[in-house]
Amino acid sequence: MCGIAGYIGERDAFRVVFEMLGRLEYRGYDSAGVACINKNAIHITKDKGKVAEVEKEAAYADSKVAIAHTRWATHGVPSRKNAHPHKDCKGKIAVVHNGIIENFEGLRARLVKRGHKFLSETDTEVIPHLIEEEYKDGGGTEAAFVSAIKKLGGSFAVAMLSDKENNIFIARHESPLIVGIGNGENFVASDIPALLPLTKKVIVLDDGEYGIVGKQKVVIKKINSGRVVNKKPKTINWSMAQAEKGGFEHFMIKEIHEEPQAVKNAIAERTDIEKIAKKLAKFPRIYFVACGTASYAGRLGRGVLEHFGVPSNAEIGSEFRYGTSKTIDKNCAVILVSQSGETADTIAAAKEAKKNGAYVVGVVNVLGSTLTGICDDVIDIGAGPEIAVASTKAYVGQITSLTLLGLFIAKEKGKLDVVDLNKLISKLGGVPEKISHVIGDKEKIKRLAEKYRNVKEFFYIGRGLNYPNALEGALKLKEISYVHAEAYPAGELKHGPLALLEKGVVVFALVPNDHLAKKMESNVQEAKSRNAEIAVVSEGGDIKVPWVDPLLSPLLYVVPLHLFAYYLSVSKGLDPDKPRNLAKSVTVE
Ligand code: G6P
Repeated sequence: MCGIAGYIGERDAFRVVFEMLGRLEYRGYDSAGVACINKNAIHITKDKGKVAEVEKEAAYADSKVAIAHTRWATHGVPSRKNAHPHKDCKGKIAVVHNGIIENFEGLRARLVKRGHKFLSETDTEVIPHLIEEEYKDGGGTEAAFVSAIKKLGGSFAVAMLSDKENNIFIARHESPLIVGIGNGENFVASDIPALLPLTKKVIVLDDGEYGIVGKQKVVIKKINSGRVVNKKPKTINWSMAQAEKGGFEHFMIKEIHEEPQAVKNAIAERTDIEKIAKKLAKFPRIYFVACGTASYAGRLGRGVLEHFGVPSNAEIGSEFRYGTSKTIDKNCAVILVSQSGETADTIAAAKEAKKNGAYVVGVVNVLGSTLTGICDDVIDIGAGPEIAVASTKAYVGQITSLTLLGLFIAKEKGKLDVVDLNKLISKLGGVPEKISHVIGDKEKIKRLAEKYRNVKEFFYIGRGLNYPNALEGALKLKEISYVHAEAYPAGELKHGPLALLEKGVVVFALVPNDHLAKKMESNVQEAKSRNAEIAVVSEGGDIKVPWVDPLLSPLLYVVPLHLFAYYLSVSKGLDPDKPRNLAKSVTVE
């Protein structure tokens, strides 16, 4: 949800920040812009469009310090005037921002009364004008920056340039911001992929901190007290190759090919998972909370526990934070699932749960993310950078971790004996090869996508552990192919949706070889009798999946759904990596 980049050093800052922006585009891509200092003056170049399009048209300015932004519109349509950076009246201050300034209307009205001229419809534009106003006190840039920041309500990651300074000023509250440490140069970014080819050393800003980033020095302080915070840089273990397409046409298809590895990486964390399961097993009430695809992983986590007779609940972050969180107390454990660890609703849910005394566990892919700082314990799914907006390999990593977690909790609760636990873990070890087998059949799935290219309505049905997969299959289609798709628990089809089935409608049915297979087959017949076209995913179905223990079937059955969504999007000539209106990291409510 908006990407921020910044550079100060000896290189061509303009080029460096545009290159960094390219790797942050998954956070938003409706407009982009850069501000840099050249001959003591601020130069801004910005426009509507994706980073590469804006860069092509941009007026180049020679500079050693720059800030940049790729936008996902909240306040104000995508346009040149609403694109960041924004400046003050005199053009001496430039600001880029990620988040939402909730009190911007009041601030703007007061600033207008004092004669400030606004050029955009954004909430962000109040920031440079506020700083300009604070400058009048004569306390210098740092003092003006901090007083302005203190007046902001809502969420923000901010980077600022002033023509009086050879530093980048940054601040954060509830939106991510990191500093990359180089040799005689430093970087600012919303997220790790921006930094990958540049440095492996990062300082993660926490909420309520601001920083002054110079060429040789980075100083981090508390916004409220001005106290210096000594932060040791962390080393990133992601590689640049992981954040490149590596010969694939899109990140999404590359990431689907990484699903077998995602299972292996999640299993590699088994010692930590087992330790956390021991703690979780002590709580009578366990909740899974997440948003989007991760929320389906949460549902699967609940399904695994219920399979063993362990009660649990799964909720969506935006609902939990204002509803269920009121019922949370010290007898509860809340498991937050998030690829990015930056999803605003998931973070808010974690904070509410913690405030109410719950034991809070994060299942995340990005270590050092905001969520990891809030949780009591963290399970790293270790899937590596996921760049495509629609999550695929991270989902597979999440459901692997949550399946393992469920098994260990069941063992702790005496619902699963060690022999059976070990058998299941050993079967889990065989899953990556089976996923590769499914991926090996991708040409068949591609042909199916081409056949269904003009279909307007899809249904996905599943039961039990594969109902979350049905939700995931339908969401993927909506996200990247812009086709209407609905998921239903197969038994629910007859309570309404069956009325929509007719010739031309396609129903994907997930039929693993489990105790519900016969019931699924009946539901398939019901759909067939209404002339819908059926695509059965099963051992012997239209899309074939190798045998797997039913408990582990979600790990395999989701793979063809990811492939189908990808190929449908491509067959429609769309860009599956950058779906319209969406962003990967949703840092606003
Ligand atoms: C966005 C992404 C989804 C993702 C969801 C939750 O909507 O497009 O792919 O599942 O956010 O993100 P998280 O980082 O919390 O898993």
